[in-house]
Amino acid sequence: MSAVLQEPELRLRPMSEDDLAAVTSVEQDAYAFPWTEQIFRDCLRVGYSCWILEQDRSLLSYGVMSVGAGECHILNLCVRPVSQRQGFGRHMLAHLLRLARKHLAKTALLEVRPSNRAAVQLYRQAGFSEVGIRREYYPAVKGREDALILAKDLTV
Ligand SMILES: CC(C)(COP(=O)(O)OP(=O)(O)OC[C@H]1O[C@@H](n2cnc3c(N)ncnc32)[C@H](O)[C@@H]1OP(=O)(O)O)[C@@H](O)C(=O)NCCC(=O)NCCS
Repeated sequence: MSAVLQEPELRLRPMSEDDLAAVTSVEQDAYAFPWTEQIFRDCLRVGYSCWILEQDRSLLSYGVMSVGAGECHILNLCVRPVSQRQGFGRHMLAHLLRLARKHLAKTALLEVRPSNRAAVQLYRQAGFSEVGIRREYYPAVKGREDALILAKDLTV
């Protein structure tokens, strides 16, 4: 007799204050310069769109986005390191862009470090292109790093 093992379902849901410890822990594992728990708390307080992707109640990915005035700004998108390169980042990004369209955003914007190859590739593959540079935007091990500003037209 053979058993059929089913993958636990992926679930997208809004982030809440109860998620902040887990989110902050992944954030610290995933970034050299992580956001603090207070930054996530503030994003929830001001009503940014903050989402969790989980499987079997275990956090895989989260995304934070502001939407308004016909634009959305993706402020954070992260997949826990052990689950990277399995399509979860793409899944979360697609969810955020779907939501932005629902809120009538015509353009999606974000900043990314040019050295962040995985993220730059993810965004380019999703149809983002470079529209500018913010000089010395990010802290870096040695001084500061520029940010690429990427944009995507959501009307097409
Ligand atoms: C960037 C990040 C969100 C990508 O998420 P992910 O789940 O690992 O990526 P996916 O598996 O969905 O990959 C989607 C595409 O992104 C690109 N990509 C992802 N990881 C990559 C890597 N290590 N190297 C090159 N390209 C990569 C590829 O184009 C990939 O498509 P493909 O698998 O068909 O080639 C993830 O690496 C991460 O959380 N990094 C740390 C936090 C971060 O830097 N966030 C972005 C801030 S702007």
